[in-house]
Formats: sequence, C-alpha cells, structure tokens
Amino acid sequence: MPLKTFLSEKRKEGLRIGLVPTMGALHEGHLSLIKKCRKECDVTVVSIFVNPTQFNNKEDFEKYPVTLQDDQQLLVREKADVLFHPDQQEIYPTEGKMSLSFGMLETVMDGKFRPGHFSGVGLIVSKLFNIVSPDIAFFGQKDLQQVAVIKKLNEDLSFGIQICVVPTVRGESGLALSSRNKRLDSKQKSIAPAIYQTLKGIKDQILNKEKISDAMVWGRNNISKHAPDIELEYLEIVDSNELTEVEDTSNHEEISICIAAYLGEVRLIDNLFLFSR
Ligand code: PAJ
Repeated sequence: MPLKTFLSEKRKEGLRIGLVPTMGALHEGHLSLIKKCRKECDVTVVSIFVNPTQFNNKEDFEKYPVTLQDDQQLLVREKADVLFHPDQQEIYPTEGKMSLSFGMLETVMDGKFRPGHFSGVGLIVSKLFNIVSPDIAFFGQKDLQQVAVIKKLNEDLSFGIQICVVPTVRGESGLALSSRNKRLDSKQKSIAPAIYQTLKGIKDQILNKEKISDAMVWGRNNISKHAPDIELEYLEIVDSNELTEVEDTSNHEEISICIAAYLGEVRLIDNLFLFSR
C-alpha cells in the first residue's frame, strides 16, 4: 500500500502521526527521537534518506555511512511503525533543484562554511513534510542551527507541524553521538571528547562569572594546547533561536555555545545550552 494511502487511513482513524527524519546509520541519538515519537504519537514514521542536496562536499556524501540492515533491526526493536526509505529517483526525479534561502540564519556557523547545505535540508524536509504530513516532527538539539532553519521553514511555508526538539545524546566521554563518529579511527576517537569538554569548560567559566570573551579565548586555547589534532572551524556563543552572536547574557532567553571542528577528514559539530530562562 502506498505510504500516503496508509497514512491517510490512519489519520481518518484519528491517530496522531509522528515523523523522525534521518539519514540512517542509526545510533542512540536517533533512537531517542524515535522513543519520544512513540510516546507522543500513535504512528511513528522514520525516514532514511542520505540527501545529496545538503552535502556541499562530494566526498562527505560518498563516504556517508550506510548500514541499512542494522538500521532495520533497530527500527524493529524500537517498534517504529513505518520505515520510509525512498530512492534518489523518487525524491529527485528531475535535474535542477530549487533552492531555499533562510537569510541571516544561513549566513552564520554551518551556513558560512557549508554553502547550500541548509537549502538542501530545507528542500528534503519540505518534501518529507508533504509526503508524510505528520502532526509532530522530531529533531535533535545536536543540530541546533538545523532546528532554527526548520522552525523557520515550518512557519514561512505554513506547514503547521509541531516541531519537537530532543536533547543531545552523548557517549560516556561526553562526545555527542553522530553517524560520522563511525569514520573516526581509534586515536581520533580518544581525542574527540575534547570537543564536549571544551564546551563544558566555557559554560562553567561563564556561569562562574568569567567574561564571555575570556571564556571563548580559553576554549580556543584549550583545543590548540590539549587537542592540537582538532582543527577548529568555528566556536561561537549565540542566541539559540536567532543565532546572533551574544556579548551580554542578560538579553537572551536561551544561549548556546556552538562548535564545528575537523578530526582528519571528519567534520563534527556540537553545542551546549548555557542556560534557558
Ligand atoms: P541525521 O544526521 O541522520 O540526524 C537525524 C536526526 O537525529 C536529526 O534531527 C539530528 O539532530 C538527530 N540527532 C543526531 N545525533 C543526535 C544525538 N547525538 N542526540 C540527539 N539527536 C541526534 O539531521 C539529519 O540527519 C538530516 O539533516 C535530515 C534532517 C534527516 C535531513 O536530511
């Protein structure tokens, strides 16, 4: 039965439909979104699609881990109701893709270093929203800028979908779980937790009344001194919703410290709430 027909029947029965969009290579971070979805909704749809239009680096796309069989087993274990795993042709039947622009939200952080990335995210998420028409869609706080972009997309295109943001799941070392961690070798795996430790160190200093600018300098030095193999792309402190740079904590509801860094060829991102009022 086609997915749309199946879901419209469920909708007619008055059931709430939840969508968890992913690119596969599932880990506990993804599973926390699925668990939350199962709690909040009657039907949990998980999509797996490695979306080419959001990769600005061809090699990153080609090396993106694909573990479909393991993913399917995890979805069965987690009792997801539907796996939507379309092929490229189904999603992108023709050449030439429209682009979406998110203004200021895509000129900072990842937007600055990955031109076109958020346009690609916006395009695939719009397609998934149209295909599945969920009541609620679930996204991870780990991709803070992606959340801001999707909230804007949802608002500006009047999708009317509830966006649920789920906290970041970390390993014991504090390293945020990511499909890209699978590409780290053992030495890189031992270094990578310095990313979280640096965020945590900055947070602690600011909460202990250190000046923001001094805490950020400490953060940069901490990486170059203790984890020189980590190549910092950006380290910023921003308003969690507007993504504007923060100089004074008093004027903001929510503030996040955000980082992107390379370990060899693997690009990792993370962020930590400084506080939410
Ligand atoms: P992907 O990187 O597979 O992530 C899918 C979802 O899982 C995203 O909402 C992401 O924020 C969340 N996630 C990843 N790691 C997490 C962690 N450690 N803890 C909690 N949540 C985590 O993000 C994408 O795919 C794509 O851009 C997508 C939205 C599917 C569009 O292609």
